[in-house]
Amino acid sequence: MRLIDSTFLCLDIGASGVRGIAHRVKNAMLDKSAYYAVDDFDTVFALKSVIDELEQQIGRHFDTTYITGNFGASYFSVATQNDKWPQDHKITAADIKTQIAKIESPDGFFPMHIIPLRYDTPRFRNMLSPIGHTDRQLVSTFSALYFTSDYMQRLLGFLRQAYVQPDAFFAPQFLANNVYKPGRQNIMFIDFGAEHTTVSIWTNRGPVLYKTYAIGGNDLTEEISKTLSISFTDAERIKRTVANIKPNEMARFSPADTAYAFSCADVNEIVIPFFTNLITKVKSDTEKYIEKYHISEIIVTGGGAKTPGFQELLSENFDIPIRTLGVDANARALSEFIWQSHKPQRLAYISRIRRNKKRLEKIINLFRFKRHKKQIIAPIMPSTLCFDMTRPETYTMFSSAGIRAIHVDIMDGLYVDKIAGGIDELRAIRSNWNGHLHVHLMTDAPEVWAADAINAGADTVILSTNTVGLRRAIQLVKKSGKRVGIALNPDTPISILKTVLRDLDEVMVMAVTPGAAGQEFNKNVLHKISALNATRKKYGLKFAISIDGGINSETATPCWANGANVLVSGSYLATAPDFSLAVQSLLPNKN
Ligand code: DX5
Ligand code: ZN
Repeated sequence: MRLIDSTFLCLDIGASGVRGIAHRVKNAMLDKSAYYAVDDFDTVFALKSVIDELEQQIGRHFDTTYITGNFGASYFSVATQNDKWPQDHKITAADIKTQIAKIESPDGFFPMHIIPLRYDTPRFRNMLSPIGHTDRQLVSTFSALYFTSDYMQRLLGFLRQAYVQPDAFFAPQFLANNVYKPGRQNIMFIDFGAEHTTVSIWTNRGPVLYKTYAIGGNDLTEEISKTLSISFTDAERIKRTVANIKPNEMARFSPADTAYAFSCADVNEIVIPFFTNLITKVKSDTEKYIEKYHISEIIVTGGGAKTPGFQELLSENFDIPIRTLGVDANARALSEFIWQSHKPQRLAYISRIRRNKKRLEKIINLFRFKRHKKQIIAPIMPSTLCFDMTRPETYTMFSSAGIRAIHVDIMDGLYVDKIAGGIDELRAIRSNWNGHLHVHLMTDAPEVWAADAINAGADTVILSTNTVGLRRAIQLVKKSGKRVGIALNPDTPISILKTVLRDLDEVMVMAVTPGAAGQEFNKNVLHKISALNATRKKYGLKFAISIDGGINSETATPCWANGANVLVSGSYLATAPDFSLAVQSLLPNKN
């Protein structure tokens, strides 16, 4: 599938429920996403409900479906393949494919992931890839993971009944390892599902242990149901509300359920040994590996991990930091994995489109008057003060909301008390963003800062008033061919601009005192906007009017009405539940 214009669905199918994430992709960027989960032992019903809901939210049928979940018992082995050639041979991708094809599945098992661990030739030891090397022998070591065909058949049956055409299956811990494993560390995963508990150990190169225990949440429910002679459904309900691994004195006196006479302690007398036995078993099976591979973290997923005291029980048994992920962790890992694996293709598409656009712009510009080249950019600019500009996701979110320009706030700790942004940050932002960079210098020494900002990739430089060397800074920016503007503080009158107004591409009206995001919009600045607008008309000037500080969907309206062309917004956009909708709510002709 090409992730350019399509919709895709990620399903985590568990024995006790189904979780789904769906995405709509437009022009290689995320356009809309939705999450939905249904807890129900009737898998077909749960599948249908999740798909219906997500289809409704996304507004279209799905082009592709990826599946993860507990696929039953697993078989894991480390397989080696040895090939010899009579003469020197240049190793190709086809050689590796043939080796993988020769790995045999055990009877009744379905191959899921075959991951290369290392390659050795007589001349080169322990390689990540042998392709392109020339030698007479190749010994490859693969991790091979299989799931029972029975279970996969059962799953396919469920999918058919729910009218789902699966495109690929992924083992949850394969995904978790790709998405949640920090850097180059070795990690152990424990997934406590309804039917199985899976434990695996991953090194940088792949899995070295993968074990499924046919013990899960349903076995505990069954034990409660048998020991206390109650129905499975009641036992499940009581388990969910009462189960607690930490022994508690008062539990003896608290009834477990209004329908029965037994106490919480009666239930937990079943729960505690059940979990303790399971963890003891896991511990003795993994101890050797944990030591050998220096495991630095245990990541826990699945319903059982929610049981109070589960994390403490693990801590008592393993002297390793433990991280418990939410029930949606596997679905999220799947969606993230698919999205990342299409990254090269998406980026290639985006840069092709950008290149074409640039070419087109060049042609159009040939027919334009020179002064139009510096025309103002885009009506809404998010302020960097309120976003994490180190995350690539921030830029994707901006682009998919139609943002064309970013407002970069720089504070030097002198002109204003705080220090924020800076030239290094600006350079880093430039390397992530092809669009316009609107740099707001809240600094002394405007000349020095302006020169640095231009060097680091600024397209517009906004200087602050009441600084020494302001006039020279304006000329410096103008000479560089970049746009130049001045920020007018709330208590500064527009009359101070008189002598420089003709040189400016922009006047930025500050509606808050510079220095911090999240302040309230000062309504007194509205008359300044309309006065600037009137001056512009009267003298036939071209400068743009922008407003910075306290902009939200309410304060934006009078700004537009008084003649503003561009708005900067920080905290309003950063705290909105849906970034794109929030951008739209700031536009002049929203409806
Ligand atoms: C204020 C900055 C503004 C500010 C905007 O010193 O120049 O750019 O961060 O943030 P909000 O929209 O929250 O006022
Ligand atoms: Zn600003």
